[in-house]
Amino acid sequence: MKVSFKVNGEPKTVDVPSDMPLLWTLRDTLELKGTKFGCGAAQCGACTVHVNGVATRSCVTPVAAVAGKEVATVEGLSPDGTHVLQQAWEELDVPQCGYCQAGQLMSAAALLAKKASPTDADIDAAMNGNICRCATYLRIRAAIHRAAELKVATTQAGEPKRLQRSAP
Ligand code: FES
Ligand code: FES
Repeated sequence: MKVSFKVNGEPKTVDVPSDMPLLWTLRDTLELKGTKFGCGAAQCGACTVHVNGVATRSCVTPVAAVAGKEVATVEGLSPDGTHVLQQAWEELDVPQCGYCQAGQLMSAAALLAKKASPTDADIDAAMNGNICRCATYLRIRAAIHRAAELKVATTQAGEPKRLQRSAP
């Protein structure tokens, strides 16, 4: 079945079984390997992408369900790692093994798009389904707060605010 949709703003058409999970389509057909397979059962969040701006588990989303829609993956956050979440993630050294982090970033991005200054409770609720076996949860929460600050600063300054990394 041919299915057409946008990925990170670019129109794509794939010819795959209609029930193929979006995750396989992204990784194996479109060669976008940033999105990860964890559980395959909507239990871990590693495969999180956006579908029309909503954080979605791509492992349980048949590709036919995204026909005509806008899909965003971690590769689409920014072309050069300068999305406020990527800056904050780097500043606070969030990842450990890194496996879960694409999904964490995409859930966080969906949250920030809805709530410019999320509370701890907002963050915990939005990130609840994203499991991290390295337990980076406290750094993730701090980095989302930091990204929210950066977003405000960016909006006020009209251009991205670069971060100073503290000396090792
Ligand atoms: S791989 Fe999709 S939620 Fe775990
Ligand atoms: S950083 Fe290792 S699973 Fe999250």
